[in-house]
Amino acid sequence: MKRDVFLAILLLVGWQVFGQYGAEVPFTVPLPIPPLLEDLNPDPDRAQLELIARPGSRVFLPGTRTQTYGYNGDYLGPTIKVRRDEEVSIKVSNQLDEVTTVHWHGLHIPGEMDGGPRQVIRPQEVWNPHFTINQPAATLWYHPHALGRAGEHVYRGLAGLFIIEDEISDELDIPKTYGVDDIPLIIQDKRFHRDGSFGYIEGRPDIMHGVIGDTVLANGAVQPFLNVATIKIRFRVLNGSTSSIYRLFLADRRPFHQIASDGGFLEEPVKLRSLLLSAGERAEIVVDFSAYNVGDSVILKVVEAQGKSFEVMNFVVAEQQSDRSELPPQLTTIEPIPETQAAKIRRFVLDTTGDGRQLMSAENRLTINGKKMNIDRIDETVRLGDTEIWEITNRSRGIVDLPHSFHLHDVQFQILDINGQRPPRNQRGWKDTVMIPTDTTVRIIAVFEDYTGIYMYHCHLLEHEDDGMMGQFEVRVP
Ligand code: C2O
Ligand code: CU
Ligand code: CU
Repeated sequence: MKRDVFLAILLLVGWQVFGQYGAEVPFTVPLPIPPLLEDLNPDPDRAQLELIARPGSRVFLPGTRTQTYGYNGDYLGPTIKVRRDEEVSIKVSNQLDEVTTVHWHGLHIPGEMDGGPRQVIRPQEVWNPHFTINQPAATLWYHPHALGRAGEHVYRGLAGLFIIEDEISDELDIPKTYGVDDIPLIIQDKRFHRDGSFGYIEGRPDIMHGVIGDTVLANGAVQPFLNVATIKIRFRVLNGSTSSIYRLFLADRRPFHQIASDGGFLEEPVKLRSLLLSAGERAEIVVDFSAYNVGDSVILKVVEAQGKSFEVMNFVVAEQQSDRSELPPQLTTIEPIPETQAAKIRRFVLDTTGDGRQLMSAENRLTINGKKMNIDRIDETVRLGDTEIWEITNRSRGIVDLPHSFHLHDVQFQILDINGQRPPRNQRGWKDTVMIPTDTTVRIIAVFEDYTGIYMYHCHLLEHEDDGMMGQFEVRVP
């Protein structure tokens, strides 16, 4: 425990010291590591945390300063790390001059604690959610969810990781020292104006296609580097962009292993040469640098779905260390939820262009089942304890073909099939967000147990969500 505290202080100092997050020459700024958020409660079974959403500014591009938002700092937020069964209480203060919320993306908690658009925090107000961690080790995240404003808030910098550990993650022989061989990695592309300001939505194409950037940030830094030893390193990757879909790979095409998806460990590591992550999805990957020599370096790249490619960061192999460990062949067990257990099948049609009559008018573009978000309407009522299959279709009419990414609050789900096919091996674990390409139907299954309340389902392309591609479901005692 002491070591953790020491590490936290070290990281906190490191986080403050970097003044500049981008340089003229790529790969000359070190990768910032978000500090672990300090737990103010000494009781190991309880956490008392504090987040402050506030405005700030930062130098991303040399010679310019960007107005930002951040949690407890100028840009992004600290990493929250809790344990399964821990009782967590958080004081969230809003020091912005506009309404915001903080949603715990991926957490299985009661509806009132969820931080969706219904749990508004007004300027200068404080929100005090509390909940017990009731799910396996995973890399989740937190971000604002104010109605119509989520995208802009995330874009300005409000986002952080929310890590759960448990007995399984303790015991597995995998890299697990935060900031040392267990590295958070939040990837976001941004459009900057010449004066350094962010260029968020600037016209209808930005709403339809998402805001695609010209610069990529890793943990808030432009093209940083990370010194690594010749060992295995785990990266907890979050696609923290508002709407980009990334294919992520090492420039030399060396394979790596994915060990966890949104909701926790996969049953077994999955070897990949590239990883597809839509906005809001997470993956834990392990890169084995023992295949490299000291002095080597390798660039991490992403290609965004509309074709832009970015060099995200550079791994510099700086130290020889011996690592003969093998990744455990089995990481956890995941019981498939039987389809026969489903009490109900619901169908959701994601539609980009509307019914074709008033093509793409603001009222009928970007709908789910023909409807746009209305906070006064509950779209679906789910009985507490029921297992349900949700069948989600991205219906395309070929005019504007857009992929969507479907996220549902409250529960982690399993993907049954994608256009009738078994999902790829790295999507056979717990998920809370799934990409739905055009003309594709994805069937998911989930158990809506433990908690009641009103929750959201929506496209996690935040430009789509804010435009109204969202609905509400209520879990009720039958
Ligand atoms: Cu990541 Cu409804 O949110
Ligand atoms: Cu969520
Ligand atoms: Cu969408």
